[in-house]
Amino acid sequence: MKNKLTIDKRLRQRVLPLMFLIITLLMSMLLLMRIDGVQKHNLDVATEGARNIFRMIVLTRQWNADHGGVYVFVDEKTPVNEYLDHPKKVIETTEKEKLTLLNPAYMTRQIAELAQNDPDIHLRLHITSLKPIRPQNAADAWEVEALKRFETGEQEISSVEIENGQRYLRYMSPLMVKESCLLCHEKQGYKLGDVRGGISVSLQMESIDKSVHHEIVASAISYAVSYGLLIMITWGLIELLARRWRALNDNIEMLETTRNELVENEKMASLGRLVSGFAHEINTPVGVAVGAISHGDETIATLKTLLAKEEVTEQELNQQLDYLSEGHYLALANLRRAADLVQRFKRTSIDRDSQQKREYQPAELIQDVLTTLHNQLKRTEISVEVTCSEKLKLYGTPGLLEQVLTNLITNSISHGFDNGTRAGKISINVSQSSANRLIVDYQDDGVGMNEDVKQQAFEPFFTTSRDKGGSGLGLYVIYNIVTQQMAGTIQMTSVSNAGVRFHIECPIEAIPYNTL
Ligand code: HEC
Repeated sequence: MKNKLTIDKRLRQRVLPLMFLIITLLMSMLLLMRIDGVQKHNLDVATEGARNIFRMIVLTRQWNADHGGVYVFVDEKTPVNEYLDHPKKVIETTEKEKLTLLNPAYMTRQIAELAQNDPDIHLRLHITSLKPIRPQNAADAWEVEALKRFETGEQEISSVEIENGQRYLRYMSPLMVKESCLLCHEKQGYKLGDVRGGISVSLQMESIDKSVHHEIVASAISYAVSYGLLIMITWGLIELLARRWRALNDNIEMLETTRNELVENEKMASLGRLVSGFAHEINTPVGVAVGAISHGDETIATLKTLLAKEEVTEQELNQQLDYLSEGHYLALANLRRAADLVQRFKRTSIDRDSQQKREYQPAELIQDVLTTLHNQLKRTEISVEVTCSEKLKLYGTPGLLEQVLTNLITNSISHGFDNGTRAGKISINVSQSSANRLIVDYQDDGVGMNEDVKQQAFEPFFTTSRDKGGSGLGLYVIYNIVTQQMAGTIQMTSVSNAGVRFHIECPIEAIPYNTL
């Protein structure tokens, strides 16, 4: 009963919070993974953007280098490059206007300047080298690190850096020495394939972060909604389960109560049969005794008339006295038998009624059972053969074994021997095994059971004779007594038309010292 009450409570008080915890952990984990994914993805997209800017710049530089530099008009924004060492660094047009050669790095610097001054472009470009020709092109700490790594063969480097409280995606890739570069850079000792320097691209993360933020908020909202739904569904399902369980449990409890009541009824009914059997049994000896004693009255009356006569022979008197003592003997014998019956009945009914343990002899107990069933057996041609040592003494609740045997015998009479219309034999063999167990081997040679009946024989309410008043509880009661109250086992073997056999084994209790 105890665990029955707790399962639906357990569902609500333990399983439900546990499920909530699991769902919460799972959903937060998924959300964190999602946020991480969004951030990584956006960083990838931003990096790809920076990479493309770098590639574009390299293309414009390539174009410039392929032309060996490009000439532009000199003005205050574009002074002559003091670091360029070239024979035709400055030339004049026919109109005497000055033109100067723009090397790729100079052009890159000018584009970088344009980008820096445009408020719509959140971009910084920087051409640099570990050995700058122009000192202002010197690398900052991050770039130095990156350039060193390019020397070891790395192709690009990117990371998010914080500068002046702003987040930047910094990207850098090397500028390798190509054929067209040698024109101006060979004299510094560079060879084809060397790392000449690099261009770093810095993107402000603000706008990227903004879109990430939007996406994270959207994800968080959708996850929160799913979370809420999941919690509600789980709660609903568990509540449904708990209620179903409760209802089922109530039904089972009700069925159990009904079944217990029916079993009790069956026990009472068998007690009733016992009483009526006893009444029949005791009727005969008491009747005989009453007859004998009333006959004695007549004999005494005859004696008195004989004595009142003038003449009476000794033989006549002796004859009457013989009648009297015969009647007396008959009455006594029958009263003794009645007393014996009462004694047995008392034992049986008290044992049945109480669960009191005592020392008893199974041989005597079997005789008691047979006496109480005598009424039912005497009208049949069923013989009962008992094998049980008179010396065997047991300690326990005799009523249990008695009920088992009574039920087995009545079962045999009504089913095995067709309500006693068939002749046959019942044999009961009670012994103590070497393993100190009580062995009851019960056998009849009645009609037996077919496979179907055998399968269900021990089930409650299963009977093949409901129309004849069978309750279907006889074997069920036996089974319960043996397995639960006697802590034993019961095995049934049966062959159709060859009778049944029950093999019962149960532990024998030691006789307590105080009762010895
Ligand atoms: C027309 C001559 C010329 C050509 C061609 C040329 N450069 Fe330069 N490069 C210069 C000069 C002069 C500087 C020095 C400073 C400046 O102008 O910023 C320089 C600077 C650089 C720098 C910046 C670091 C520093 O030393 O100040 C890098 C990097 C660079 N060049 C790479 C290359 C590569 C790669 C090529 C081939 C694609 C190339 N250059 C082709 C003339 C040239």
